[in-house]
Amino acid sequence: VGKPIGIALIGCGVVGTGVLRLLAEHRESIEARIGSSLEIRGIVVSDPSRERDPLVPSALLTTDGEALVRSHDVDLVVEVMGGVARAGALVRLALETGKHVVTANKALLAEEGVALSALAEQKGLDLYYEAAVAGGIPIIRVLREGLSSDRVRAVYGIVNGTSNYILSRMRSAGLEFAVALAEAQSAGYAEADPTLDVGGGDAAHKLTVLARLAFGQHVRTEHVAIEGIDRVSRVDMQFAERFGYEIKPLAIAQRLTDGRLDLRVHPALVQQDAALAGIHGALNAVYVHGELVGPSLLSGLGAGAGPTAVSVVADVVDVAQNLVAGAPARRAAGVRDANAKVSVQPIGELVSSYYVRMTVRDRPGVLARVTGSLASHAVSVEQMVQQRPETASSEVAATLVFLTHEAREQDLRAAITEIDASQDVVSPTNVIRIVDQA
Ligand code: HSE
Repeated sequence: VGKPIGIALIGCGVVGTGVLRLLAEHRESIEARIGSSLEIRGIVVSDPSRERDPLVPSALLTTDGEALVRSHDVDLVVEVMGGVARAGALVRLALETGKHVVTANKALLAEEGVALSALAEQKGLDLYYEAAVAGGIPIIRVLREGLSSDRVRAVYGIVNGTSNYILSRMRSAGLEFAVALAEAQSAGYAEADPTLDVGGGDAAHKLTVLARLAFGQHVRTEHVAIEGIDRVSRVDMQFAERFGYEIKPLAIAQRLTDGRLDLRVHPALVQQDAALAGIHGALNAVYVHGELVGPSLLSGLGAGAGPTAVSVVADVVDVAQNLVAGAPARRAAGVRDANAKVSVQPIGELVSSYYVRMTVRDRPGVLARVTGSLASHAVSVEQMVQQRPETASSEVAATLVFLTHEAREQDLRAAITEIDASQDVVSPTNVIRIVDQA
């Protein structure tokens, strides 16, 4: 067994504690794989006096991240703190001072990943981030290694465990949104700021990272059209079910035939017999569609201490093996030209079918006017139901739900703007995209 590999752990929340637990419980088999031992030199926290799991060695806690990262007996910095400013400063310092880095920080990677990868490459260091996307699913390795010889056409799926958990629990247990979110928080799935989960930002960060690896282009989170799951209500789920669909939180990145990228995060109706419809709770699932390999689906737990720690420590093993072999920085970052313009299809140009739920006054002529507006914007109706709400708040309200044929999004939105501005509609119309290839 060679010289011990010194690790600085930055952050000791749900994931950091999971990493320490995994290292303690699997130490023997991990060190056998590496051919060397791993030693935690220090753990950076903001408040050392906070009550923690007894397995966290309190003597190693420090608030002085800079000193720990700089110290000579640290070879590898493991960042599981989250947030961009402080975590980013420590990761940069690590690379500048010759330390390899493992990070689970998708927000940081989405914002600065290309520059950090370039810095790591320039310094001959490893920067690994398997846990940043889809928790325990090894999707980064699949894109970096397993499918690196193919050309990826699309990568898409469910990459936010909290959103999937919430929608699953709303559907299966009839829970209110807020109750399901509280459950996801207590299970350790949710971000410190859960609006990142339910607003789609977390999934957009992950999609940014995946799209860079898949397409070799400097995709930025601003390129992603984002909608959260907060627009989905129980009534939408019930209507979706009537039409044979489920509502799932999807993230989609695809290369179109004209070379532009289609990048979006949104809840979507998927057919009940589609593979992604069967992915429940905190499970994630990611399809990679390669030109030669075809579709490949990976699924597993996308959040939580255990699955995330597995991915973090798998990276630690990889970096340690590289160190032992004296061969770090074997893999290029994936983005070919950081300054090349990324050509993205504006969301208005998307061609999709849609679920549209309107609350209208129930009186003669309304349906004719609504379908007239849709028709005048080239939106064709595929199916429709009208229902009086069981507990109608207004004597005259009725719910109209349409599934449309494929239409251009900007045409549909123009029709809805026109319809919502009319006296026929009593509250804003809800539109959810339908994704058929899921
Ligand atoms: N909050 C994230 C999720 C954790 O729910 O998927 C994993 O990145």
